[in-house]
Amino acid sequence: MTASKTIETSLAERARAINLFSPPDDYFDDPSKYFRLLRDGDPVHQQEDGSILLTRYDDVRQIWRDLTGLVYKGEQFCKRFGEGPLLEHHTSTMLFRDNPDHDRLRNIVNPFFSQTSIQSLSAFTQEVVDREIKKVKEMGEFDFVHDFAFRIPVALICKVIGVPVEDANYIQAVGRKVLFPLNPKVPQEAIDDGHASVTEFKSYLAPFLGEIKARSSIDPSESILCAMAAAQRDGVEVSDDEILHMCIVTLNGGHETTTNLISQSIHFLMEDPESLGQLRDGEVPVATALEELIRFITPLQLQGRRTTQDVELESGNGTIQAGTEVVLCQASANRDERVFENPNKLNLSRRPNNHVGFGAGIHVCLGRPLARMEASIAIPTVLKELPTLTRNGKARFQRNTRFRGLEKFPVKLA
Ligand code: HEM
Repeated sequence: MTASKTIETSLAERARAINLFSPPDDYFDDPSKYFRLLRDGDPVHQQEDGSILLTRYDDVRQIWRDLTGLVYKGEQFCKRFGEGPLLEHHTSTMLFRDNPDHDRLRNIVNPFFSQTSIQSLSAFTQEVVDREIKKVKEMGEFDFVHDFAFRIPVALICKVIGVPVEDANYIQAVGRKVLFPLNPKVPQEAIDDGHASVTEFKSYLAPFLGEIKARSSIDPSESILCAMAAAQRDGVEVSDDEILHMCIVTLNGGHETTTNLISQSIHFLMEDPESLGQLRDGEVPVATALEELIRFITPLQLQGRRTTQDVELESGNGTIQAGTEVVLCQASANRDERVFENPNKLNLSRRPNNHVGFGAGIHVCLGRPLARMEASIAIPTVLKELPTLTRNGKARFQRNTRFRGLEKFPVKLA
């Protein structure tokens, strides 16, 4: 065997040994070297549960855009979660529903996420950001995630859904327990917590819906809860359970990923003073810089699809059999050197930047205009208003393979 053949074999062997069901601890701090190994050594990676993990940009995008792929995972989730509220939730929202149900549900809430609706929230967002900046200035030392980043998206999504922002901490705690079981392998205790949390979340939201439904007239533009109750009254087919699950998925989607985007943006900019300076001094347009931060961070890292027919990968990487559960690793796709030059380095003026951080196809992120608007106000305001912000201890990443986020990020104002 030639030397280069031996190197290739060992690369493939090392890549095949990667197991996202029990990743090594340093994976959570920086998964990029594992993604690189997978892209180069085993781009169509067989996982222990029979699913296939795709890590190259072209392959991820092809499956995402393939309209024959399905998201409904009733059978698979039933095996993992058992019957109960957690299964009900993760099979009732648009995220895990195929057409026609997906479009039926998405169309009711779509108007809230149009550019015009989102623009109308920008003054409120700036107010929230300014208020939270004032608070942390008074604190001097604080946790950037909990005391600042989280406060922005949660205030916005509570307003959009129509629940009190004072309940933010509760919503985050219950929401996390609903989402955590979506990770590749979780203990039974987390599944039990997930079931209990769905029941709790529904009981929390039900009185808000009840109050709206009792009104003699409902203004659908007031909130998502109002829009869904009004649609139901107008004869659109949507059940109370579907409304409650829609609120849960939107509350969760609306704060966790955007919190992670804002906090990691500041974290990685601090590690790269040149980029930080470029953004603070207005040398790159905020919108362009933001796309690069989304690519680099990719707050939501993994997604799933089930093939309904054999799919030949256009990259030449083989054929995926019909009926295969495919895990798409957009976090790796966004670092694919075949598409992005020097992908592990922030390049705030990178163009083109066709990252897949918000997905692709019919499930493309509903809340992306909201996330972009919030981050493009919050990040520059932090750089401008908190110029002396420095670390105050070690940041720690969450031990979560689906959501990449900082668990803690201690900082202080010098
Ligand atoms: C930086 C922030 C965000 C990131 C990275 C992100 C990422 C994603 C991705 C990758 C998907 C595609 C899922 C799939 O294909 O299976 C998605 C879908 C979704 N996102 Fe986001 N998201 C973000 C912010 C938001 C916000 C602010 C909201 C809510 C207001 C939201 C609500 C949703 C919903 C409801 C879906 C499901 C859409 C559907 O199935 O049609 N997301 N998101």
